[in-house]
Amino acid sequence: MRDQLHQPDLYPLTSKYDAGWLLALDMGPNPLWLMENLLRDLRLEPGMRVLDLGSGRGATSVFLAREFDVDVVAVDLWVDPATATAVFEDAGVADRVEAVRAEAHSLPFDRASFDAIISIDAYEYFGTADGYLAYITRFLKPGGQLGVATPAMRREVREIGHIPHHIRTCVGWEAMAWHTADWWRFQWAITELVTVTSARFQERGWADWLRWERAKNAPTEDGVIAMLEADGGELLTFAFITAVK
Ligand SMILES: C[S@@+](CC[C@H](N)C(=O)[O-])C[C@H]1O[C@@H](n2cnc3c(N)ncnc32)[C@H](O)[C@@H]1O
Repeated sequence: MRDQLHQPDLYPLTSKYDAGWLLALDMGPNPLWLMENLLRDLRLEPGMRVLDLGSGRGATSVFLAREFDVDVVAVDLWVDPATATAVFEDAGVADRVEAVRAEAHSLPFDRASFDAIISIDAYEYFGTADGYLAYITRFLKPGGQLGVATPAMRREVREIGHIPHHIRTCVGWEAMAWHTADWWRFQWAITELVTVTSARFQERGWADWLRWERAKNAPTEDGVIAMLEADGGELLTFAFITAVK
């Protein structure tokens, strides 16, 4: 199954990374595929200061520093910064990446201090409230970029009228945060705080998610595979949203 994580045609940058290393840092479907896909809609330049918000065990922060030569602040709540720092040291990027433990609503940074804020598979935990965009964009410089990759459903729960059984069984009410790309586009655009530059579904999101889950050592324990198989690609994928302040 692990060799299925090697998809150089689709993800040439990610394919340089060892699948075992990535799986050891697992906290959700391949964060480097999500990052590489999202970065089609962002423009990073060497030396930029980038906030990796909800960085988990740090794979995406390593990727940003190595592939784009940017300085990264890796913020996470659940993962001990010492654990993430060890990952950065092993990967040889500790001089470019700083691990900070912080809650997404009380970030210890100056206003206008980042060129880009990127969040991979984390924004759904804190970013759906109406007021959050105003809060997080205060940390962006004028012209700074915001990019989010987040689990999504192809139809709104509100439109369906309930959380579909196969999704509720696995993630419960948390699926309420799995919005469509259009929901995010409207939610951000209506504020006029940012200009939305893209809002789309990951083309192969469901298939990639399943591929990742099947490659894991203990693939069935959390029921994600059962959820994805029952879904069959009808609803589940990821959404990518980018904007400029
Ligand atoms: C599903 S994990 C994904 C981690 C990583 N981005 C990845 O893709 O492997 C979600 C991450 O969001 C972080 N997170 C959740 N709620 C948060 C909050 N309120 N403030 C900061 N980070 C939060 C957690 O600490 C966790 O590491």
